[in-house]
Amino acid sequence: MNSTGIIGYGHMGGMLVKGFITSGALSPGEIVVASRSRRSLDACAAAWPGVGIAATNADIARRCRTVIIAVRPQEVGGVLCEIAPALAGDEHIVSLAAGISLAAIEDAYTGPVTRVVPTITSAVGEGTTLVCHGRQVGMDNALRVERLFSAIGSVVAVSEADLPAATLLSSCGPGLLASLIEELAGAAVRASGIPPDRALLLATEMVAATGAYLRETGRAPGDLVGEVATGGGITEVGVRGFRERLPAVFDEVFAAMLERYGTVGRPLSDERSYPR
Ligand SMILES: NC(=O)c1ccc[n+]([C@@H]2O[C@H](COP(=O)([O-])OP(=O)(O)OC[C@H]3O[C@@H](n4cnc5c(N)ncnc54)[C@H](OP(=O)(O)O)[C@@H]3O)[C@@H](O)[C@H]2O)c1
Repeated sequence: MNSTGIIGYGHMGGMLVKGFITSGALSPGEIVVASRSRRSLDACAAAWPGVGIAATNADIARRCRTVIIAVRPQEVGGVLCEIAPALAGDEHIVSLAAGISLAAIEDAYTGPVTRVVPTITSAVGEGTTLVCHGRQVGMDNALRVERLFSAIGSVVAVSEADLPAATLLSSCGPGLLASLIEELAGAAVRASGIPPDRALLLATEMVAATGAYLRETGRAPGDLVGEVATGGGITEVGVRGFRERLPAVFDEVFAAMLERYGTVGRPLSDERSYPR
């Protein structure tokens, strides 16, 4: 009953199993996984001997004290319908689903509920998991979940109102930055003929090193710009171009992502009904 259950063995579910085990936060025997397809469950069993495989989502609810829901937002309602009858009321539901509010989940389950937003970079123990606890979450459950996720990176508590913008930065951000790396490398290739794999390697290393530099020195990005983009120099030309054009591009991109965030999860009230 002290086990941690994970419903959905996709990108995030798989990353969490790997992260919790390799960090030592949980032993395989403390994890139980359920997923829709036999193929995913077989992959989990093959990769992580000792991890429990549940026959159904309801089985997870019966066996686990913490139930992590790692399915896509539009699938959360169906999963809640399946597990609600098997929940006693003291299990801690932890939802990863973007755009599914605490209130929507608490409408289906009156016990403790927390929203967490990890990031793909948690797979290498880097990046921030955002945490937002519901009203029913006591100190014990809050600390247990925060300790668990701090094993795969840092943990930052945010209000639910701030969750969309924080998600865009910390969880969508790696996808945005990876596409910027591609653009930087692509521009270098088009401008000079440098081999694409060499350009990609240099751009990737540069981004990783810039993050490490900012983190280790504690300097603000603007200070770093000042150090590199000296007056009349080469970088200054590029920074000026970015500063003229990027704010408009980023405002447009963020507005579009926030709009998408607001519509990503089908309202849970659309589900037929939740057995209570
Ligand atoms: N990807 C990210 O960077 C990221 C970051 C933070 C939060 N999130 C959130 O994490 C959640 C999962 O995202 P993801 O990228 O891991 O999606 P994903 O790769 O599509 O994985 C979802 C998994 O859910 C399983 N599933 C679907 N319906 C199910 C059901 N009724 N019962 C049990 N399992 C079911 C599927 O299992 P089968 O494979 O067995 O069919 C699939 O593997 C989403 O809500 C997303 O908003 C994602």
